[in-house]
Amino acid sequence: MTGSDKQILYAFLNAAEDSLDGHRKARPAAEFRDDPAPGSPSCPETGRFASLGEVERAVMGCSACPLAAARTLTVPGEGPQDSRNARVLVVGEGPGADEDASGRPFVGKAGQLLDRMLGAIGLSRQENCYITNVVKCRPPDNREPQPEEASACRPFLEAQIGLLRPTLILALGRTASQSLLSTSEGITSLRGTWREYRGIPVLPTYHPSALLRNEGLKRPAWEDLKEFRARLDSLAGV
Ligand code: URA
Repeated sequence: MTGSDKQILYAFLNAAEDSLDGHRKARPAAEFRDDPAPGSPSCPETGRFASLGEVERAVMGCSACPLAAARTLTVPGEGPQDSRNARVLVVGEGPGADEDASGRPFVGKAGQLLDRMLGAIGLSRQENCYITNVVKCRPPDNREPQPEEASACRPFLEAQIGLLRPTLILALGRTASQSLLSTSEGITSLRGTWREYRGIPVLPTYHPSALLRNEGLKRPAWEDLKEFRARLDSLAGV
């Protein structure tokens, strides 16, 4: 928001208050500044990045944690690059072997299931959702990312969210949900319940790999997806 927009809003709210109170209140002069532009170092949401392309390039050159040493390719994320199209952000845990080899998120078995799940609610990485992970390099043997690795990668995820400003976020599995929401609550109680990340509604659900291991989780995951679609429709469809 620009400083002058803020000034107008402030004047409007003061006038409304005065009219309710029936008299004009004396107020100290207020000064308003423009919000920092994306990419300016002071922007709390996007850090130093002005575009998703910049984030992707920075990920490719990153060596901030030990995962960098063992990776084949970085996996920054994939999907439409502008928030008018990418109204949904999907966040997973970290790349596996197929993703490490291709540089693209969710392209292995779990990814194929994810694409089918998203397709069932009218979403796809080609058209309307951006897919990324908590960590952008493969953890060895597909282990969970360590907290220090997730922290080292956090500025990239934060910038991606700040630049896209998605309408909704789908968090896949415990690691993504706990990391995004800064909670230690388990996935069984988190899933299917709306939470928030910086004012953006987040729906945690099961990770597609968990669905491949345990068929019984498919039904609740489907309920979550229907809930996600309904919320998206209520906020103007994708
Ligand atoms: N699992 C994830 O969490 N992310 C991927 O990109 C692939 C598998």
